[in-house]
Amino acid sequence: MFRRCTEKLYWGPRMTWICFLTCWATVSLTITLQDEASSTVSTSQCLAECICLSFTQVLCNTGGLHEIPNGSLPLTVEDLSLTKNNFPIIRREAFTAHRYLRKLTLDGNNISLIKPFAFRGLPHLRKLSIQHTPLSYVGQYSFAALQNITMLVLAHNKIRYIEGYSFAGTDNVKFIFLSNNPLVTIQSYAFSGLKNVERLILPSGIKEIESDAFNNLQHIGLLKLTYMDLKRLLPYTFRALSYVHVLSIQESDLGVIYKDAFTGLRRINNLNILNNKIDAIKQLNLSADNEIGTFRFLGNHILEAPRASDTILDVGTISALNNHFPCDCQIHNVLESDFVNGSTMEFQLHNFCISPIEFNGKPMSVVDFDGIAKCHEKVFKDNLGSRGQDLRSTLILIMFFLAVSNFF
Ligand SMILES: *[C@@H]1O[C@H](CO)[C@@H](O)[C@H](O)[C@H]1NC(C)=O
Ligand SMILES: *[C@@H]1O[C@H](CO)[C@@H](O)[C@H](O)[C@H]1NC(C)=O
Ligand SMILES: *[C@@H]1O[C@H](CO)[C@@H](O)[C@H](O)[C@H]1NC(C)=O
Ligand SMILES: *[C@@H]1O[C@H](CO)[C@@H](O)[C@H](O)[C@H]1NC(C)=O
Ligand SMILES: *[C@@H]1O[C@H](CO)[C@@H](O)[C@H](O)[C@H]1NC(C)=O
Repeated sequence: MFRRCTEKLYWGPRMTWICFLTCWATVSLTITLQDEASSTVSTSQCLAECICLSFTQVLCNTGGLHEIPNGSLPLTVEDLSLTKNNFPIIRREAFTAHRYLRKLTLDGNNISLIKPFAFRGLPHLRKLSIQHTPLSYVGQYSFAALQNITMLVLAHNKIRYIEGYSFAGTDNVKFIFLSNNPLVTIQSYAFSGLKNVERLILPSGIKEIESDAFNNLQHIGLLKLTYMDLKRLLPYTFRALSYVHVLSIQESDLGVIYKDAFTGLRRINNLNILNNKIDAIKQLNLSADNEIGTFRFLGNHILEAPRASDTILDVGTISALNNHFPCDCQIHNVLESDFVNGSTMEFQLHNFCISPIEFNGKPMSVVDFDGIAKCHEKVFKDNLGSRGQDLRSTLILIMFFLAVSNFF
């Protein structure tokens, strides 16, 4: 402030005088505020382990606290940092004495359990951060009733699964960060009650998504599921997920896509299925009920194609490009399916063969389909006999990962 003023000296005497007055006023005001804050707060209400910077800001970092100070700090506190203390359990309504809290940081604590409704009673809480803790799961109702929270940061923990109804009644959260957690399972109804999330980005490595995992999750800007390692996409996985701007499922092993996997999904502007490996599609039914605007199916490797009658793509716009499909008798199923919008020739130019081995990686357009018989029920089975299938899956998996590693 002083330096800025001296730099302005050449502006002439009048300017200098104004500048001096402003500086003086600022400095004296700061001194008065600090005086008041330190003298009053520290003596009466501040815990020895904490630093009360003001009536509204308190730091208790590396304080060796073993109990959450519920009522033993200024009741006016809005910004409370309790980093690196020792609270293994966060009890129900643990902070309600401090109902003016706007920002609460619990990073670096030895938190292993968050009880249901732990943060209830904090109507003004906007940001809650719990990072670098051994927390191994998000339990039922643990983040319930955080009505007005904007940001929930749960990165860098040991969270392996999210139980149903963990966020019930937490309507207005905008950002949830779950990155850098060893998340493997998303249980049914895990995100139920979240109604206005802008971005929900889940960490990589998810191995299991239960049916109804996204049930009652609504008004999402972006829901992105990447680097998953699934065995199957179960029936009703996306049931009652609605009003999503972009749902993107990408760079994952999706295993087998079961019939009804997308049934009950509603009002999705953009559904992207990008660069995945898919063992088989039993049925892909994106009906008018789903109200899907644009469906992009790009860069996927499909080992077993669905029958044409099991591919129902009743969406606004389809683009199916750069995919690899089997070019044996199943190819007729693909070419007769809704994946082909417009000319079959265009489709064949922009999509590729995954098998048989001599056609792997070649555009579909090089294959003479008239020379390949359609799959009959029996032939279909024989061609995909279990031993052949295993061998082929392994080969294709290797090729897929080679392709993906080249791609990155
Ligand atoms: C915190 O304090 C409030 C108000 O004094 C009380 O109702 C609540 O039960 C306390 N929470 C815990 C976990 O002790
Ligand atoms: C963290 O909590 C666990 C179990 O409650 C305990 O065994 C461990 O010693 C604690 N670690 C620290 C650093 O307090
Ligand atoms: C949420 O915030 C709004 C405005 O900031 C406030 O009017 C409302 O009372 C808050 N909600 C609760 C449950 O306190
Ligand atoms: C596709 O889904 C819609 C809506 O769920 C359903 O009415 C229709 O029968 C399904 N089609 C097939 C072939 O299963
Ligand atoms: C098919 O392609 C045409 C032209 O590319 C496009 O205008 C139309 O919307 C597409 N229809 C579907 C259902 O994707």
